[in-house]
Amino acid sequence: MADGGLALPAGFLLGCASAAHQVEGGTDNDWSEWARQPGRIRDGSDAAVACDHWHRYPEDLQVLASLGQNAHRFSLEWSRIEPRPGDFDEAALAHYADVVACCRDLGMEPLVTLLHFTLPRWLTERGGVRAPEAPARFARYAAVCAERLGPSVEWWVTINEPNVQALMGYLTGEWPPGKASMPVAFAALRGLLRMHAGAATALRAVAARHERRARVSVAHHVRGLRPARPSSVMDRLACLPVDRLMNRWWPRACRSGRMLPPVGRGEKVAGAAGSLDWLGLNYYCDDTVRFAPRRPSQLFAQRFPDPRRQQSSFGWAIHAGGLTRVLHELWDEFRLPIVVTENGVADEADELRGRFLVEHVTAVARAAAAGVDVRGYLHWTAMDNFEWAEGYTKRFGLFAVDRDTLQRRPKPSAAVFARICAAGGVPADLLDAVPRLTSVASG
Ligand code: FCB
Repeated sequence: MADGGLALPAGFLLGCASAAHQVEGGTDNDWSEWARQPGRIRDGSDAAVACDHWHRYPEDLQVLASLGQNAHRFSLEWSRIEPRPGDFDEAALAHYADVVACCRDLGMEPLVTLLHFTLPRWLTERGGVRAPEAPARFARYAAVCAERLGPSVEWWVTINEPNVQALMGYLTGEWPPGKASMPVAFAALRGLLRMHAGAATALRAVAARHERRARVSVAHHVRGLRPARPSSVMDRLACLPVDRLMNRWWPRACRSGRMLPPVGRGEKVAGAAGSLDWLGLNYYCDDTVRFAPRRPSQLFAQRFPDPRRQQSSFGWAIHAGGLTRVLHELWDEFRLPIVVTENGVADEADELRGRFLVEHVTAVARAAAAGVDVRGYLHWTAMDNFEWAEGYTKRFGLFAVDRDTLQRRPKPSAAVFARICAAGGVPADLLDAVPRLTSVASG
């Protein structure tokens, strides 16, 4: 960059990411049901209204485009599009076609997620992601979406964070359906992989039939892992199974097309091999790992935030160097183009977000300059919204949303991201002005 700043590659996608249930309002799915059960959501709230983005998307998208964003990731709500099995709602499809058209008119590349945690209740009644019929149902839904939206959508995410969905819904039980068992979590992962494979096959088949391009991925959540005591062999060893299961299992299964151990026995999964055209990376933080002999259910690893680093209000340690490292690791192993499909910080007073943005976009620019094929950065998120079990207590937005009037108000960090978008990188004065977030040297 002429001013000495850090440039991102040409054509780099810069924008925000969101999920239907968290922003739309008016959704009716397994999470709506979950929120009705006492004690499930920290502040007793629900997503009945959320940000009313379902009605306000034209203005919301207009504002993001006016901030220089050239891409937008959002999810389709399956329960709206297919309210009863096999019954597809034309009005819901027309709505999403208009969201896509709005993005295009405003110069924002749409990246569309088919499943972002929420399931239609008719599917959960039949067993959710573990239902034998789930892969075929999901593939058919994917095909319907591709037929309707495919002319204007190239970038598809089949499933958001399948590893997190399996962990939270089936191992810790903090999310629906509230199961807490390792074998059940493995069964959920097997179901999710079959669903992804079915959807990827369907998206490609529809694209091929119409001679269109479909680029297929998942949004894969990766936690960087660091041994608590780098000199401890046990702490270093304790990182390995967690890394293998949380971070590597999914992309390795998609590369090999097999249900890899320990989740499966290496059996083939139709449509899974080579099902990723690119890799969506959701990166929030690193965890420190200590060997924990008494925690077999946690794979003998105690995970906690590095106490030397600043923490978000979620208690996640902030360390942009971790993002650079994860980008390198994924690129070195998988050689797939990467888009950062989510990265952001829970920060009630917007005290951390400006610096967080500069440091994390810098981390991406550094990885790109070092040869990692990274194509985009999508910030989580545009507006404070319904943060799952945390309700509205965690605020990730560039914009605050008044819970009474639903009025949107830009936070100071929105202007920081606008400068990054305008410059296509990090301008020199931002680099200089922002003191280091982390209290120890990055690495
Ligand atoms: C990710 C989810 C997203 C949001 C952020 C904070 O794991 O994909 O919906 O909740 O965390």
